[in-house]
Amino acid sequence: KVIVLDFGSQYNQLITRRIREFGVFSELLPNDTTAAELTALGNVKGIILSGGPHSVYADDAFTVDPAIFDLGVPILGICYGMQLTTKLLGGKVEKAAKREYGTATIHVNQTNSGLFEGLSETEQVLMSHGDLITQIPEGFSVTASNEQCPVAAFENTDRQIYGVQFHPEVRHTLNGNQMLRNFAFNICQMTGDWTMDNFIDIQINNIREKVGDRKVLLGLSGGVDSSVVGVLLQKAIGDQLICIFVDHGLLRKNEGDSVMEALETFGLNIIRVNAKDRFFSKLAGITDPEEKRKIIGNEFIYVFDDEAAKLEGIDFLAQGTLYTDIIESGTKTAQTIKSHHNVGGLPEDMSFELIEPLNTLFKDEVRAVGTALNMPDSIVWRQPFPGPGLGIRVLGEVTDEKVEIVRESDAILREEIAKNGLERDVWQYFTVLPNVRSVGVMGDGRTYDHMVGIRAVTSIDGMTSEFARIDWEVLQKISTRIVNEVPHVNRVVYDITGKPPGTIEWE
Ligand code: XMP
Repeated sequence: KVIVLDFGSQYNQLITRRIREFGVFSELLPNDTTAAELTALGNVKGIILSGGPHSVYADDAFTVDPAIFDLGVPILGICYGMQLTTKLLGGKVEKAAKREYGTATIHVNQTNSGLFEGLSETEQVLMSHGDLITQIPEGFSVTASNEQCPVAAFENTDRQIYGVQFHPEVRHTLNGNQMLRNFAFNICQMTGDWTMDNFIDIQINNIREKVGDRKVLLGLSGGVDSSVVGVLLQKAIGDQLICIFVDHGLLRKNEGDSVMEALETFGLNIIRVNAKDRFFSKLAGITDPEEKRKIIGNEFIYVFDDEAAKLEGIDFLAQGTLYTDIIESGTKTAQTIKSHHNVGGLPEDMSFELIEPLNTLFKDEVRAVGTALNMPDSIVWRQPFPGPGLGIRVLGEVTDEKVEIVRESDAILREEIAKNGLERDVWQYFTVLPNVRSVGVMGDGRTYDHMVGIRAVTSIDGMTSEFARIDWEVLQKISTRIVNEVPHVNRVVYDITGKPPGTIEWE
């Protein structure tokens, strides 16, 4: 595997990801991981020092165990990683007269070996730095440069240490992937035979080793992450895994049953807690969106606590934490904060140890794991669904009648989207009940009834979105069916707001 040490660049998650795409396992570790710890991991064939926002001379600058340079394992420093290498090996880094940010053209000195093998003599790269290397360490030679950045890349082939001032992991560096490939295959001599199946085997072994004959608890939401963790753990430890599925009465139509059914076929041992009454009684009379969210979030934890307290001898808590959850928080310390946050509210005396088998992966990689575990598309490709469920799609007070309107109209929408093969094109789609009534005419009579809103968006990560350009005919069919089939609805509107300024959910 190739280990990436994290110096805080916003791009560092992309490095491991690109390398995994080549079929080489790669993961990100904190920058204070020592040479001895790296050796103990076994099978480390390459080390990459990532970029980072600091200057190597700043008081709080991250550094690295200098012994890693003597491990005999090839090292690639990227941006900050290259400058740190320079400083630790006796070269010099100084503040540049002008910060350089953006694409630049570099001149490559040799294209028949090393990082630039097979590339052109000029290459477009992305630069993002405020410091410059003004003196390279002894034994190194410059392999790429341009006017503004005389040391754009260097190498010491005897010691197998390489550095680039630019970012090969981003698309703006047009042949960045080839440079990383050259590092992984030619320099680190990896074979590229890693697959999701290897990942699953490794995780299963790790889980077995860690858990032994003890027991693990998993809060199952039915979403792709926790479901994949459930199936993975089941493969590893069988009925030493106990899952709790809290049905808060705010799930979509048939969702509780279908989640249970799909996951029970994998032999999962699931305790389903029907907690609708608890949730609805706490929500009675509450109209403020934030207050509703808080009540639902807290009640979730209370139910989970109550159920966990009935069980004995559980040492571990499993979670579907993803790589992005950790990266977003940053470092080793931030990771702990996040974990605490995820188990927040659990009693102190339940000192669970955490198991987070997906915490090196991205969402689409988790989907690939799910598929490799033979999980059905209905789970693997489930659209995102918020924890508070339909509770935040009924605007204002949550009542049985209103939840039912959202649930039924949502079911029709989902059915029509599926019928028209749009499930993968539209990122998320659902209905909302804005708590507005309007006048209509049905048959010969006047109606004064509810309006339902349709929200359907395209997005990459949910951070920004556009309304989905669904065909008018499809929308018309959905509208007709909702008015005809869902009692108390006489009008349907389509939300044509992007995010920003609108959020995806209405509350
Ligand atoms: P917004 O509404 O902020 O939503 O544009 C972005 C994405 O996040 C989902 N979402 C949630 N997911 N718990 C969740 O697990 C929540 O409380 C929550 N609120 C919003 C939303 O469905 C969309 O995919």
